[in-house]
Amino acid sequence: MKVLVIGGGGREHAIVHTLRKSPKVEHIWCAPGNGGIAQEAECVDIKATDIDGVLAFAKAAQPDLVVVAPDDPLALGMVDALEDAGIRAFGPRKDAALIEGSKSFAKELMRKYGIPTADYAVFEDSAAAIDYIKAQGAPIVVKADGLALGKGVTVAMTEEEAIAAVKDAIDGGAFGGAGARVVIEQYLTGPEVSVLAFVDGVHLKTMPSAQDHKRAYDHDEGPNTGGMGAFSPSRYYADTIEQVCMETIFQPTVAAMAKEGRPFKGVLYFGLMLTPKGPRVIEYNARFGDPETQAVLSRLQTDLIDIFEAVIDGKLDEIAISWSHDAACCVCMASGGYPKAYEKGKVIEGLDDVTDSFVFHAGTAVKDGAFVTNGGRVLGVTATAPTLPAAIERAYADVRKIRFDQAHYRTDIGIK
Ligand code: AMP
Ligand code: GLY
Repeated sequence: MKVLVIGGGGREHAIVHTLRKSPKVEHIWCAPGNGGIAQEAECVDIKATDIDGVLAFAKAAQPDLVVVAPDDPLALGMVDALEDAGIRAFGPRKDAALIEGSKSFAKELMRKYGIPTADYAVFEDSAAAIDYIKAQGAPIVVKADGLALGKGVTVAMTEEEAIAAVKDAIDGGAFGGAGARVVIEQYLTGPEVSVLAFVDGVHLKTMPSAQDHKRAYDHDEGPNTGGMGAFSPSRYYADTIEQVCMETIFQPTVAAMAKEGRPFKGVLYFGLMLTPKGPRVIEYNARFGDPETQAVLSRLQTDLIDIFEAVIDGKLDEIAISWSHDAACCVCMASGGYPKAYEKGKVIEGLDDVTDSFVFHAGTAVKDGAFVTNGGRVLGVTATAPTLPAAIERAYADVRKIRFDQAHYRTDIGIK
């Protein structure tokens, strides 16, 4: 089989690396890919959001399967465009990707189908939103409705902060069109767990649980990032909780989407908070998480192609998916300054000294035969081991061998 993977981060490197293990895969392209992906696939210089460019390339190259990994092309309808041209694609169609692309859509779906989540209200008018905040009091959470690069959420400890977030989003246009509407929701507390699931429109098979670390610095301090590391499994996600999530959240969500005429096919990511009153949905993503995927796919034992095919054909119930009992830890090495301004083009040294981890590339390029930094998140150093502490230890032993100017990483991935 020939496969085209869309995207160019650590998540896409993990997908490409996992697909390479399949005896069925003979060629992989990745658009646009990155320096590390180029070691395992043929990179094609097309932006992940360029639907016309991807479609033209796919029509010419005739891949047997296109895997659309990032949120933006899914929300823009890349899977629809490919399928309508007769090309097999993995990922939700545009009307199903809305579960991530519009928080108000997701909240209304949960309210309608009784899926547990934080209480909320939706506003397009800042004065009404501010009245609501004053009536509810703080802490309270303000979320831009649309895709905002993971930066659209303000967990406000005071009314002033919440009001400022509303003004920025609705009146200030801080997130463009994505913030013209805001969801204001009840502040919840409890450990956060990510559960990703393969969904074929009707059936769902969950992957092992994971946790990510969104803040830039140790002890969950500093600004929010795309994710500074991840590990799998979560300590908090006990079998009894899994059962509750399956019955009250996972299956009902898949059934609700089908009932709404938006059958979901692809990877559905449940961002959960395990509150004292039970698990609640914090967010849905319509795709593999980044960097959770680097940790989770490191544990996959089944051929990923067989899973992708079963999802597309609606036959997920007919295959067994097995996972290693090992734990996995992914430590992201980022450019100094990330998530704010950072420099690119720093030479990365020490990659050949890595012994016990696999290094997924998130933002790298090859220049004069050497890997250089080319993004905010640069590498995801990922190790597996029989226990989580051992996986953490292995990953960090390798992280310490890798050097580039102003490299930054958290030293507490896996310890929460
Ligand atoms: P998101 O960008 O949707 O992943 O949200 C970013 C982070 O905001 C989440 O990982 C949570 O830590 C926090 N958050 C989102 N919604 C709530 C909520 N209702 N209560 C408390 N924290 C929240
Ligand atoms: N790590 C969170 C996400 O992929 O959205």
